[in-house]
Amino acid sequence: MAKIKPSKGAPYARILGVGGYRPTRVVPNEVILEKIDSSDEWIRSRSGIETRHWAGPEETVAAMAIEASGKAIADAGIDAEQVGAVVVSTVSHFAQTPAVATEIADKLGTKKAAAFDISAGCAGFGYGLTLAKGIVVEGSAEYVLVIGVERLSDLTDREDRATAFLFGDGAGAVVVGPAQEPAIGPTVWGSEGDKSETIKQTVSWDRFRIGDVADLPLDSAGNVKFPAITQEGQAVFRWAVFEMAKVAQQALDAAGITADDLDVFIPHQANVRIIDSMVKTLKLPEHVTVARDIRTTGNTSAASIPLAMERLLATGEAKSGDTALVIGFGAGLAYAATVVTLP
Ligand SMILES: CC(C)(COP(=O)(O)OP(=O)(O)OC[C@H]1O[C@@H](n2cnc3c(N)ncnc32)[C@H](O)[C@@H]1OP(=O)(O)O)[C@@H](O)C(=O)NCCC(=O)NCCS
Repeated sequence: MAKIKPSKGAPYARILGVGGYRPTRVVPNEVILEKIDSSDEWIRSRSGIETRHWAGPEETVAAMAIEASGKAIADAGIDAEQVGAVVVSTVSHFAQTPAVATEIADKLGTKKAAAFDISAGCAGFGYGLTLAKGIVVEGSAEYVLVIGVERLSDLTDREDRATAFLFGDGAGAVVVGPAQEPAIGPTVWGSEGDKSETIKQTVSWDRFRIGDVADLPLDSAGNVKFPAITQEGQAVFRWAVFEMAKVAQQALDAAGITADDLDVFIPHQANVRIIDSMVKTLKLPEHVTVARDIRTTGNTSAASIPLAMERLLATGEAKSGDTALVIGFGAGLAYAATVVTLP
């Protein structure tokens, strides 16, 4: 048997830079109310959302990701040529193949970086971060770009009052690279496929294409509605509140710290009431800064955590070197939580 050389990576990995892109169009609740029977007061009090961003034709998944990534690369103080792998988490890139990551890697000016997409819904950023850490420590790339990007406005049924107000568009990116001490803790992750019916696409692409759509919602012209994300709001809400607080605590335990050691809490931005409930269950002390980016960004799925991280650092609410707990959860029902040192 031939002897195979072991790969040589960094002792540890850390987030070195972060960047975000929010589409220029800001959409207030009044616009949502044109299509559903609701009120600004109801949307604000039940979800926390006041405005969200919707992408225009030029703000494609690739274009938004490239903007966010350029900022993350600059923030990390490296050149695009040093990026050895690009991991993109998205559910709203409408071409099955090739992976949008390959276009992003090329347009950013990487040197033929490895590039691939993953689909893990709102847990996608945590999944990407876990892969990136593994790649850096294993040594297949020195710097890995992790991108969460969504155009959920394309997958929103504007007449569905259970979801029309929730989703937004945007991109967030981080650069993960070598570190001399641990700066990304163990990931606590998993999925509960037995509950996957609670968040799903209304109709699969193949059924939509062949018109096997007898039981599907129609638009006012009698045509089958374009596929959209649908959810059982209350079931997802309960699951998030009860199960995800446990997972968040497990991530703290796995990192060997307590809530008192935390500076920042960046949960997936799904609903401000879910965030507030987790803060209570985890008994986060007053000094912990909590991301509530949902107010002006809505739920941007895989992009929500890096976007919230970028904003907290940009506004000075969080600072470089702070210890943050991040947790993503959603379709799947997949989840991932970890403790990180902020770039
Ligand atoms: C969607 C969500 C905001 C709805 O809030 P909720 O408090 O659960 O609302 P409910 O579905 O229980 O509905 C409560 C009432 O409001 C009404 N309602 C529902 N949607 C409404 C709307 N858009 N406007 C006004 N009223 C509405 C319902 O008909 C119901 O009325 P009733 O009490 O007379 O029957 C909430 O369930 C949620 O955020 N769920 C989790 C979302 C999430 O995390 N998704 C993750 C995806 S990644």
